[in-house]
Amino acid sequence: MEPHTRSTSAQKLRHMTDTANGRRNYCSNTVMELMASMNRDFLPLYEDFLQTYYSHLELLALVGALYIAFKGFSLLHGCYTLISLLINWCLLKKSTLTRRYGEWAVVTGATDGIGKAYAEELASLGMNIILISRNREKLQNVSDSIAKTYGVKTRFIQADFNRCQEFIHVIKDALKDVDVGILVNNAGVCYEYPQYVTEVPEDKMWEIINVNVAAATMMIHVVLPDMVQRKRGAIINISSASSAFLCPLFAIYGASKSFLDYLSQALHQEYASKGIFIQSMIPFFVTTNLIKPMSKHFQTASLLLPDAKGLAYQAVRTIGVTCRTTGNWAHSIQYYFASCLPKWAWICTVTLMFSTIRRQYLARR
Ligand SMILES: NC(=O)c1ccc[n+]([C@@H]2O[C@H](COP(=O)([O-])OP(=O)(O)OC[C@H]3O[C@@H](n4cnc5c(N)ncnc54)[C@H](OP(=O)(O)O)[C@@H]3O)[C@@H](O)[C@H]2O)c1
Repeated sequence: MEPHTRSTSAQKLRHMTDTANGRRNYCSNTVMELMASMNRDFLPLYEDFLQTYYSHLELLALVGALYIAFKGFSLLHGCYTLISLLINWCLLKKSTLTRRYGEWAVVTGATDGIGKAYAEELASLGMNIILISRNREKLQNVSDSIAKTYGVKTRFIQADFNRCQEFIHVIKDALKDVDVGILVNNAGVCYEYPQYVTEVPEDKMWEIINVNVAAATMMIHVVLPDMVQRKRGAIINISSASSAFLCPLFAIYGASKSFLDYLSQALHQEYASKGIFIQSMIPFFVTTNLIKPMSKHFQTASLLLPDAKGLAYQAVRTIGVTCRTTGNWAHSIQYYFASCLPKWAWICTVTLMFSTIRRQYLARR
């Protein structure tokens, strides 16, 4: 190759190399500039994003901590209630209730079922009893039997709560000079069997409203002022689990019990600081004359279907401890599982159960 040609090639090669280097430099400069601009423009954005992310994370952590604290508190409160119940159970002596609340207990609907069982249980713990119901003969019998069995004083007032406005003055007069320590607002009525509202006779609707709602409220109004003056007393309102869980085919009954449950809880908040204990009792089914005619399955007591005596024994031991209770262990477990169910599952279950009871009841008639 000629010397001239060789030098031209070398020059070309150098030129190409320079050009490539220039391009590379240009590229890296561009990248640098781009990165610099990214640093300049996006870094603050990224930092902002991180900051919000961390502040959200902190917020989530706070919510989590609060939830755990709430659950922990509920657990502690549950343990405290359980221990108080056990202590109350073990230490409940004959004189405890009279010392804590007063000499006399008034029990409405006291001639049968839950009311009668309450009256007997309170008498066994040394309280004098005033029974209120409609039937004089039944009142006399239960009154005599309690006085004889437990050696306490008993009285009775004959009153029909379906005519509450008429009788409330009779009751007020009869209780004028009595140191009422405990009122068990128990008298209550229900449908004969699961019914649609349009099938419930008008009289029955009035009876449910008069007995379950009006009379129960007026009885509280009769005894509360003296209790407040004495700064002691307990009012036990026998509501029902149907106040806590929807019961189709028992709509009016359930609604009347919800009224009593609400009233009890609100009144407890109003009067706890004045020394008055107000309890909402919300049991599930109990084998009594109220439900026995509905189904053959309600005739005999079992674990989930206690009799009135068993219920009253446990329920009396929750007085002064829990202001809303099913009154017995088995129903409390039932309550727990029922409240874990989604609403639709509960509705399906009770609708199926009440429809079956209704079908069987109508077939028997
Ligand atoms: N049994 C259950 O499965 C169940 C479940 C949850 C809640 N409860 C509630 O527990 C309470 C008692 O029910 P229970 O099953 O024991 O009923 P029960 O056996 O039928 O006894 C009802 C009592 O109330 C009296 N009574 C009825 N109507 C009255 C009126 N108009 N005026 C005055 N007293 C009247 C009755 O006496 P007289 O006939 O002599 O008047 C009887 O002493 C009710 O409030 C009920 O809603 C019951």
